[in-house]
Amino acid sequence: MFSGIPLFPEQASTLAPRVDNLYFFIVAVTAFFALAVTVVVIYFAVKYRTDDPLAVGASIHGSIPLELAWSIVPFIISIVIFAWAADVFFDIVRPPNQTLEIYATGKRWMWKFQHIDGQNEINELHVPVGRAVKVTFTSEDVLHSLFFPAFRVKADAIPGRYSSVWFSATKVGEYHLFCAEYCGTKHSGMVGKVVVMEPAAYQAWLTGGVVGGSLAARGEQLFNDLACNSCHLNDGKGRGPSLVNKFGSPEELSNGTVVTVNESYVRESILTPQAKLVATYQPLMPTFQGLLSEENVMALIEYVKSLKTSSGGVAEASATAPHDTPTTGAQENR
Ligand code: CUA
Repeated sequence: MFSGIPLFPEQASTLAPRVDNLYFFIVAVTAFFALAVTVVVIYFAVKYRTDDPLAVGASIHGSIPLELAWSIVPFIISIVIFAWAADVFFDIVRPPNQTLEIYATGKRWMWKFQHIDGQNEINELHVPVGRAVKVTFTSEDVLHSLFFPAFRVKADAIPGRYSSVWFSATKVGEYHLFCAEYCGTKHSGMVGKVVVMEPAAYQAWLTGGVVGGSLAARGEQLFNDLACNSCHLNDGKGRGPSLVNKFGSPEELSNGTVVTVNESYVRESILTPQAKLVATYQPLMPTFQGLLSEENVMALIEYVKSLKTSSGGVAEASATAPHDTPTTGAQENR
């Protein structure tokens, strides 16, 4: 609807028209009142002009209907904007249940994208059209901000923390992606493109040039190499808790509180294991702060996600086993 206006990037996601419609509504309301006030000021200035330097205006002692009108009308308009914006905001911050998951890292001065199936990309991101995609990301150094103008989503990349954006692209094509937070000398060069492809073309792209197996498989390798598996036994009898079926579940901590095991919690547990200790376990785990790259942390998280019991109650410790969750597009259609 508004993409003909050259000031605005293309609308290429399901969220884009919703964000734009709200934006243009606010602009229209603002323009209407700005114009109305200007016109009335000019009209009155002309109508009540006088050459008599001693003229005194009529004394007016308020008007209840007028005061009610200028209180109630703006109130209603504000509430409409609030409710509308809240609706759009919730859709932006709450991804649908089934998304294609992609990890990303911002660093001076590039964006590195990591697909679950193992592909890496730098300053380029390939996604399928018509599918909800969630990008979970962090920064390796300073604040960056991942911005997809055509999808109307943006979030800061914060060192030591995960942020995420989600979108469902509606049009095949190439679109900009930017760093939208001044991060240093080459901030303006921290740009890239997102390539939206037909699902079949995306599958073909995904299966071409995989090196080193899936992200979860790399995580499994790391899990063994770092000897995590010597404490986190799958039968729950280890010195550390079993990680099978942990992802997405609530976990009781030693201080009595309960957390949901998500990407941020797994990350924190790897880098600062004592921060949120699982109830009944001893604080034995060493920190891996400084020993793991962000990509390796992401691989370990994917491995933890892949640890699910099959129907027989036996842990499928192999990351190459089919996922229960349809978050991995490549496997879904094979
Ligand atoms: Cu990274 Cu600006």
